[in-house]
Amino acid sequence: MEIQNSVALITGGASGIGEICAKALARRGARVSICDIAPEGIERVVREIRETGGSAMGVCGDVVREADQARFVAETLQAFGKLNIVIPSAGIIRDGTVVTTDRETGKVVRKMSLEDWQRVIDVNLTGTFLTVREALEAMVNGGWEGILCLLSSINKEGQVGQINYSATKAAIALMPKILVGEFVIRRIRNVRVVAIAPGYVNTPILQGMNQEALAAILKDVPLGRLVEPHEIAACILHCIENDAINATTIEVTGGLVYARSRAK
Ligand SMILES: NC(=O)c1ccc[n+]([C@@H]2O[C@H](COP(=O)([O-])OP(=O)(O)OC[C@H]3O[C@@H](n4cnc5c(N)ncnc54)[C@H](O)[C@@H]3O)[C@@H](O)[C@H]2O)c1
Repeated sequence: MEIQNSVALITGGASGIGEICAKALARRGARVSICDIAPEGIERVVREIRETGGSAMGVCGDVVREADQARFVAETLQAFGKLNIVIPSAGIIRDGTVVTTDRETGKVVRKMSLEDWQRVIDVNLTGTFLTVREALEAMVNGGWEGILCLLSSINKEGQVGQINYSATKAAIALMPKILVGEFVIRRIRNVRVVAIAPGYVNTPILQGMNQEALAAILKDVPLGRLVEPHEIAACILHCIENDAINATTIEVTGGLVYARSRAK
């Protein structure tokens, strides 16, 4: 599939992996739609892409809201006339153990709040579902060649302190096979689906993590550093251009293997 002259819709496009993917696609001649909840970030990314000669537009909205997701697609189609590449990159973390105990008494002193559980499920999982659903309707009806590039995580393996986040990323890792299986049944042949499962990537989302825990994890990463967002974007661009990649989840982790940590 050609990136030149394609149209890409990227949720979470105002920061991190989404932003770097948007810029990489725009440099290669795609027209990009930045869909995010952060108006200042949208404005900055759209401006920076235009300043370098690229074509970009922004739509502000919340991935949790059905009406906003419909608007992401409708406004993108209105401006650019088609849709080929969809990257649902909006995501959040709200880390914590399910229960926290007092070191001396061993008794539970805090529980993960329903709000921290629910917001992560809503943004990461329901948000991805709605982006996929709304974009698919347009792509199937439009008949354009296309690909959905979902964001899972190596934490699909089950990371302690992230029961909410890991649950969403495990579910997203299953989506390529489920969706492509459905496409076979429904005779949908113009859309491929892949998920990327990054390790720890150098973006603002990591500021919400326990930094000591992050440093300890990184000691076991053969790459010896955080993965850079351009390294995730490079994999996504390859998936777009390689028609043989479909119905799979690809890890880009710098070699992070949780099984080794658990064996200690
Ligand atoms: N950075 C990592 O280490 C890492 C690793 C694995 C997977 N991921 C996944 O990659 C994706 C992008 O993460 P990132 O590192 O670029 O994070 P980031 O915080 O830099 O970017 C996330 C973007 O999502 C937007 N967003 C958040 N909630 C939203 C909502 N309700 N509606 C619309 N937009 C919303 C934010 O405004 C932000 O622009 C996420 O799904 C994340 O889980 C990141």
